Amino acid sequence: MMRVLSVVGARPNFMKLAPVDRALVKRGVEHVIIHTGQHYDQGMSAAFFEELWIPAPDHHLGVGSASHAQQTAAVMQRLEPLLLDLRPDLLLVYGDVNSTLAAALVAAKLQLRVGHVEAGLRSGDWTMPEEINRVVTDRLSEMLFLPSRDAAENLSAEGIASDRMHFVGNVMIDTVAWALPQALKLNAAARYGVAGHPYAVVTLHRPSNVDDAGVLRELLDALGRLAAKVPVLFPVHPRTRTRITELGGRGRHPRGSKEHSLELLEPLGYLEMLSLVTGAALVVTDSGGLQEETSFLGVPCITVRPNTERPITCTHGTNRLVLLRRDALLAAAERALGRRSPARPVIERWDGRAAERIVAAVCDEERFEVDAAAASPPQMARRGVAIPVPLGAS
Ligand code: UD1
Repeated sequence: MMRVLSVVGARPNFMKLAPVDRALVKRGVEHVIIHTGQHYDQGMSAAFFEELWIPAPDHHLGVGSASHAQQTAAVMQRLEPLLLDLRPDLLLVYGDVNSTLAAALVAAKLQLRVGHVEAGLRSGDWTMPEEINRVVTDRLSEMLFLPSRDAAENLSAEGIASDRMHFVGNVMIDTVAWALPQALKLNAAARYGVAGHPYAVVTLHRPSNVDDAGVLRELLDALGRLAAKVPVLFPVHPRTRTRITELGGRGRHPRGSKEHSLELLEPLGYLEMLSLVTGAALVVTDSGGLQEETSFLGVPCITVRPNTERPITCTHGTNRLVLLRRDALLAAAERALGRRSPARPVIERWDGRAAERIVAAVCDEERFEVDAAAASPPQMARRGVAIPVPLGAS
């Protein structure tokens, strides 16, 4: 029997793992899951395993938080003996976090085959730790599973041969499609007192947005002002929570945090977050996953970054990049608030079947070629599950 091993560690890995695990198990493959422990809070890790029906990890490396070098090295040191022992036919890594890079590096040195799920994305921004992780992981991986066509161009530009590329589509969307009926039933908007009103959902955790006190203050100021127009729900990542507490420690609070209903929440589970995002009039974020999810759902999204490794969400989806300036953010938010349309964008191979294609490529050597001639123009269409449009959002 074929043995595939998946290494995951941080929150955005888990929703990518879930559909791949299900598809591998359905196919009768032995699938071993290793959790590095990069993320460890219940709300950042275990909650996702439970909600997404991922089996408990077979091995847990318990690395926790540290500097990039320490965290990456700890994953490598603890993973090496396990890989030597388990000798998988293929090691799968996901996305662009430190655990992804560390696992790919260990496996490549042991001459094990590596498959990278979400390969080929590039922001071109080397100040992002994730960009370094993406480039190196792709270079080390024999099987590259591409979520979109632009990924093939990026890889070709780096001299990577097309026979390593498999244009399978986006596994994040597999999970959205799987979870959407459950998320809609949750009606999280009612739980947070915003049902029937236009509201915004915010997430921010990139070091470039939250680690500098001046930048974070400007962002919180903008969100406070946005909250004067619509309720703003902000589930706060632990990294951001620490920084906000540090600001508060110097006697500052996000403007309008109570009276204008800018609500700072604990990190949310997957289903509750999806439920809130689905009904939102606007999402403001710096997350990669949310750029994709909002595009699929047709929810206007403002990404507070100068670049994105997911340009298809801007060209074909609902995403817009905005400069890190208070007035620019507010102006973009106002424009976006009126932009929600009942039609949802259709993005090629973001159809809930990416994991199925990965398993076909792994088990049957099926080819999912990137045929440049078939590139599709942007289009909008109604399809699939109806997404409720919040009252007041046109
Ligand atoms: C990591 C990924 C980033 C991803 C993000 C999603 C890297 C380089 N970055 O960033 O790409 O978008 O995860 O969340 O891999 N912490 C906790 N509890 C936890 C995890 C973290 O309190 O369960 C706190 C710790 O103070 C830690 C800090 O968050 O030092 C940052 O965690 P870390 O995993 O280093 O990076 P993220 O910012 O989460």
